[in-house]
This record gives sequence, C-alpha cells and structure tokens, in this order.
Amino acid sequence: MSGPLLEIRDLHIGIARRHRNDEIVRGVDLAIEAGEKWGIVGESGSGKTLTMLSVLRLLASPPLSVLRGEIRFDGEDLAHVDDRRLREVRGGDIAMVYQDPMTSLNPLLRVGRQLEETLKAHGASPAQAQARTRDVLRQVGLSDPERVRTSYPHQLSGGMIQRVMIAMALATSPRVLIADEPTTALDVTIQRQILELVTALQASTGMAVLWVTHDLGVVASLVDKVAVMYAGRIVEKAHTTRLFEHPTHPYTKALLESLPGAGSAHRSALHQIGSTPPDPTRLGAGCPFRERCPYAVDQCASSEPALMDRGQGSFAACWKEPSQW
Ligand SMILES: Nc1ncnc2c1ncn2[C@@H]1O[C@H](COP(=O)(O)OP(=O)(O)O)[C@@H](O)[C@H]1O
Ligand code: SF4
Ligand SMILES: [Mg+2]
Repeated sequence: MSGPLLEIRDLHIGIARRHRNDEIVRGVDLAIEAGEKWGIVGESGSGKTLTMLSVLRLLASPPLSVLRGEIRFDGEDLAHVDDRRLREVRGGDIAMVYQDPMTSLNPLLRVGRQLEETLKAHGASPAQAQARTRDVLRQVGLSDPERVRTSYPHQLSGGMIQRVMIAMALATSPRVLIADEPTTALDVTIQRQILELVTALQASTGMAVLWVTHDLGVVASLVDKVAVMYAGRIVEKAHTTRLFEHPTHPYTKALLESLPGAGSAHRSALHQIGSTPPDPTRLGAGCPFRERCPYAVDQCASSEPALMDRGQGSFAACWKEPSQW
C-alpha cells in the first residue's frame, strides 16, 4: 500500500434548506496512516460527527449530503463502491463507536446475539462467531463475559454497555476504529479505563484510531496527532506534544487554557473565548473565530485563512504567527 490508510480530501458537507444548500463542513483534509492515533477535537457543533459519518456514507440524506471531496480507504474511493463492498467496509474494515450507545444496540436482543450477528454478517461461521464473541468480551475487560453475552442491554451498567460497544467495533478486527465521543456519558475513571483499553488493543493490532471528542484533555496522553475543528473546518493540525507545548492557533490556545489544571495566570484568556461558537452556515467572510479572538486584526474580518505550515508538523488557519500574538 502507498499513501495513507484513510484519507479525507477537501470534504464539504451541506444541508438542504428551503431555498439554498448551506455548507456545514467546509473543506476538511485528513490523512491517517496505519497504526496512527488521532484526536479530532472541537466544541459541540463544529462538524466532527458529520465528518466521521460521511466516511461510512451514513449521513442522513436528505437533508445532509456530501457536496464535494473524496474519501479513500487504502486507496479505494468510498463514494463509488457498490453496496456490497460498502457493507464490508462498514463495521469490517472501518468500525465506528457511536456517540449514543443505546441507539446502536437493539434492546430486544441479547448482547451476545448482536455481536454474533455482526460477525456472521462479516463471514464468520456460527461457531467462530460464538468463540470470537467470548474472546472479545473478555478482551475489553468484562470480568464475566458469559453473563454479559446472555444479558439484554438494559441489564448492564453504562460502563459495561460502553465496553460492549467497543467489543462490537473491535470484533471484526477493523483497520480503522472511529470512536465518536464514546465516553461522554461516563465518569472520568471509566473514561480513562476505556481509552487505555483501546490504546492497549491498538498497540497489539496496529489499527488506526480516531478519537472524536470535545475535550482536549481526554485525548492528551492517548493520541499521536490532533486535528482541532472549528465551525466546520480544521483550524489546527499537529503532533500532540507540539500542540500542547506550542499551539499555533488562538482557538487551540484558548482550549488548552480552559483545561482543568491550566495555570491561573491564563484564566483571563479563557474568559475572552467566552460566548458560543458561530453557526457555520452564517459565517460571512473572514476568520470564523474573529468574534472570540483576542488577536484579531482587520484582515481577519475580510478573508478566511487557509491552513498554513507552522513548522515541526504543525499547521494552523490563522493570519498571525504565534510570535505576533
Ligand atoms: N441531521 C441534521 N440536520 C440539520 N443539521 C444538522 C444535522 N446534523 C448535524 N447538524 C448540524 O451540523 C453542525 C455540525 O454537527 P455535528 O457534526 O454533529 O457537530 P459535532 O459532532 O462537532 O458536535 C451542527 O451545527 C448541527 O446542528
Ligand atoms: S485569523 Fe485572526 S481572528 Fe482568526 S484566529 Fe487568527 S488572529 Fe484570530
Ligand atoms: Mg458529535
């Protein structure tokens, strides 16, 4: 294989309104190599979920649709594969853990049955499916896999359900795992356990992982690279350590300063980020962060910056270099 394992190129997603088509995701580029762990970070509404759903062609269409751009898995253009291949890719090559686990588990079926059905749909025999289900439930740290296998979803705790969801995603040994805020509903200890678990499994299988979250702190120690999204675009892309030490976009800087434990000297900057993110469909010209940016200059109101190389693997969509802040 040459080139990235998963590549999103110039992705634009629109929403059909009565008289127009508004753009919600406005030109996302991402190249994920095999074995890489990425954090996709941004406030609620920044377009993270829609971007991930479009990878598997799962956008609710209408009103949503991909306006332009390309999605390639191992070189294959996913927009043009037939339904049969698409089903193989979904949950086989690329598995997704969704934001709300209860919407993707069937409440009327025992957990084991659901896992086995998924495995059988991807080619396992009934006996293989059963054995793999037991293995994978154990792998995700469920201490009594037999009990979980024979339980209905409502008989399990939130933490157990979350592990079942991860088990389901991992069962087919995907090459890419997309986890869309899978731990938001859980307490912090369980969040960490789940993240560490996936990291351990990832190290032994070499799959690529995309962690989608609104919380930069959650992914800090667990991903190699971070893409920060704002108003439907990536505004900064960088290696994790570099991003934490030298953010090159004012929004990233503000996110870092809002993390618990950030120095109190930075608190005043946090207040400046205040207010709410803009509606990506009503941006007008200029940088979408300008209303909240303490460093905005005239140019920021008239034209929107593209991602620019800031050195050492960092890219930022900002007119001003950090030395000018
Ligand atoms: N089915 C939908 N219909 C209309 N608007 C939607 C729909 N899904 C998402 N949106 C809008 O698209 C924007 C991006 O949503 P989303 O990708 O879910 O953001 P995130 O995952 O970053 O919180 C939001 O402003 C949201 O309100
Ligand atoms: S382009 Fe201007 S408004 Fe936007 S983040 Fe940079 S300095 Fe702030
Ligand atoms: Mg989301």
